[in-house]
Amino acid sequence: MTPYRTIAQQSASYPVFIARGAIDGVGGIVSSAAGARKRPFVITSANLLEPFGRPVAASFDPPARIVLIEEGERRKTLETAAAAVTALLEAGAQRDSVAVVVGGGMIGDTAGFAASIFLRGIDLVHVPTTLLAQVDSSIGGKVAVNHPAGKNLVGSFHAPRAVVADIDALATLPERELLSGVFEALKSGIIGDPALFELTEQRRAAILERLPEVLEEVVRRSVDVKGEIVSADEREGDVRRLLNYGHTIGHGIEAATHYEGMTHGEAVGWGMIAANAIAVRRGMLPGHVARRIDDSIAAFRPTPPPSLDREAVLRAMAHDKKFSGGRRVMILPRAIGLCEVVDDIESAELEYGIDAVTAR
Ligand SMILES: NC(=O)c1ccc[n+]([C@@H]2O[C@H](COP(=O)([O-])OP(=O)(O)OC[C@H]3O[C@@H](n4cnc5c(N)ncnc54)[C@H](O)[C@@H]3O)[C@@H](O)[C@H]2O)c1
Ligand SMILES: [Zn+2]
Repeated sequence: MTPYRTIAQQSASYPVFIARGAIDGVGGIVSSAAGARKRPFVITSANLLEPFGRPVAASFDPPARIVLIEEGERRKTLETAAAAVTALLEAGAQRDSVAVVVGGGMIGDTAGFAASIFLRGIDLVHVPTTLLAQVDSSIGGKVAVNHPAGKNLVGSFHAPRAVVADIDALATLPERELLSGVFEALKSGIIGDPALFELTEQRRAAILERLPEVLEEVVRRSVDVKGEIVSADEREGDVRRLLNYGHTIGHGIEAATHYEGMTHGEAVGWGMIAANAIAVRRGMLPGHVARRIDDSIAAFRPTPPPSLDREAVLRAMAHDKKFSGGRRVMILPRAIGLCEVVDDIESAELEYGIDAVTAR
């Protein structure tokens, strides 16, 4: 299989494979990317074992050993990462082993973090099975688990050796999980690729019907946007910050609603609508462009946030590690394909943005 592209970050370069049926090629890809003598350990969940974990393990000769971890955002914890480390030790993993992590962003982040600390770090290969993981979380090398004090507070930078995205895996995704990835893709379009935004706008029905050709293009274009950004800026300077468009108020909404009833992508969808309102008020973004973006988000019908408590959202945002301390930073769009870091956001603007969500 030939890679779709290579992502060259400061710390490492790695190939990204995007194709239908790519899962069957993982064994061959890992042997050439990480070395044929490396012993593979597939890490996945019980839920994903039969459809994806076993086929990935069987693509190795001899088949890879399989390690199971618990799933769900509430299990994205140090305890689960520690359990993964223990399971790797018990299964006989060593310094020259490679962790092949099969699942959505939760598994990718948690098992990826375990791989980053196991024996001071072993090779990692991502096999993302959700749209969100394919367009976003498997790219860029960030891995983390949550802490009671907040999301993703414990983590590392641990770039993968390879990423293998199988478009066919998306056929079984629950609809809301598909949407969660769609909103992140739409975000990438607004940050850096008008054609990607137009794809989500014009091929909505095909995306919802999961036409493989269209999903493949969505994944490719999203990987290009994120790939360019993390190549220019691996560690959260202003360029990488652009990826947080929709996330500032989005995270506030997620936290205020206790991470229940809404997917991360949906919260980002609402967060983009809030950011657009603020950008229009500042005179940065023409009203008709904001309406075009908002309509496109609304057309995918994100679950409405359950009666949003403005104060609760503001309180949650005050705890956001990317938002607290000094200046309030938000990413605001100027046009479709062009966003900017703004670092003097007033609290009145935040209230205005949150009210724009409530008003819809
Ligand atoms: N590291 C990063 O840069 C980064 C970026 C964005 C998001 N994230 C993280 O990603 C996580 C969210 O990931 P997610 O949206 O993939 O959710 P997820 O990993 O929780 O998966 C959602 C559900 O889909 C199921 N699933 C996975 N693949 C499936 C398939 N092909 N068919 C049917 N069901 C399938 C899973 O079992 C799970 O129940 C969050 O924890 C977020 O913080 C990380
Ligand atoms: Zn996100």
